[in-house]
Amino acid sequence: MKIAVLGTGMVGETIASKLVSLGHEVRMGSRTATNEKAAAWVKKAGAKASAGSFSDAASFGELVFNCTLGSGSVEALVMAGENNLEGKTIIDISNPLDFSKGMPPSLFVGNTDSLGEQLQRRFPRAHVVKALNTMNCNIMVNPRLLPDTHHTFLAGNDAGAKAKVKTLLAQFGWKDDEVLDLGDITNARGCESVLPIWIRIWGATKNGAFNFKIVAAK
Ligand SMILES: NC(=O)c1ccc[n+]([C@@H]2O[C@H](COP(=O)([O-])OP(=O)(O)OC[C@H]3O[C@@H](n4cnc5c(N)ncnc54)[C@H](OP(=O)(O)O)[C@@H]3O)[C@@H](O)[C@H]2O)c1
Repeated sequence: MKIAVLGTGMVGETIASKLVSLGHEVRMGSRTATNEKAAAWVKKAGAKASAGSFSDAASFGELVFNCTLGSGSVEALVMAGENNLEGKTIIDISNPLDFSKGMPPSLFVGNTDSLGEQLQRRFPRAHVVKALNTMNCNIMVNPRLLPDTHHTFLAGNDAGAKAKVKTLLAQFGWKDDEVLDLGDITNARGCESVLPIWIRIWGATKNGAFNFKIVAAK
């Protein structure tokens, strides 16, 4: 499958590398068509990898990962181009973190709205699915790094888009019952609200290689 990965940070690179290793064709997108990190990744990742602007990547991909800085995500998708996103599934991994007052960051949107919803409202003809934002990127693409079952959450309005995301998650190694579909995109509020506790657990344990496991009574 042809996939766009918007973002040249550690999440973009980790997701893009995993997708290439699975046989997908991946174009990494950036604010500029000549981003150095993207060029270095293409050199490393080989023939199925390419890079360009956010717009180049979005027009190439049948499906789009948003791995951009939360405070720049709307802008990044505007640069990707509304027409290039039309009818496509956008897997939104971004978090609305506000570092302007130092550490730990707060959320710049939450409680009654979310970044996932902001993106869906701004691009109503795309299908935004919030996923994978609640863990570090190594675990996103290799859930078996952890010695137990654990969970990732989904939120999105379109059942077909969520099915596509589940198929990719299975390729990453997620078991069916480790993917918890919370419902429509308003549930991105829940997914994003996990960040303040995630950051504090990380601060207390100095170990980012963990995830959440939901344990329910039978
Ligand atoms: N790090 C993790 O393990 C982790 C885990 C869960 C979720 N997340 C979320 O995943 C996202 C990516 O995280 P990251 O650490 O890989 O990278 P990041 O530094 O948060 O984001 C890098 C990307 O954002 C773009 N960007 C920055 N400012 C922008 C702006 N004003 N307008 C448009 N685009 C802008 C950059 O564009 P250029 O390419 O042009 O520089 C780059 O592609 C974030 O939202 C983060 O909260 C991260």
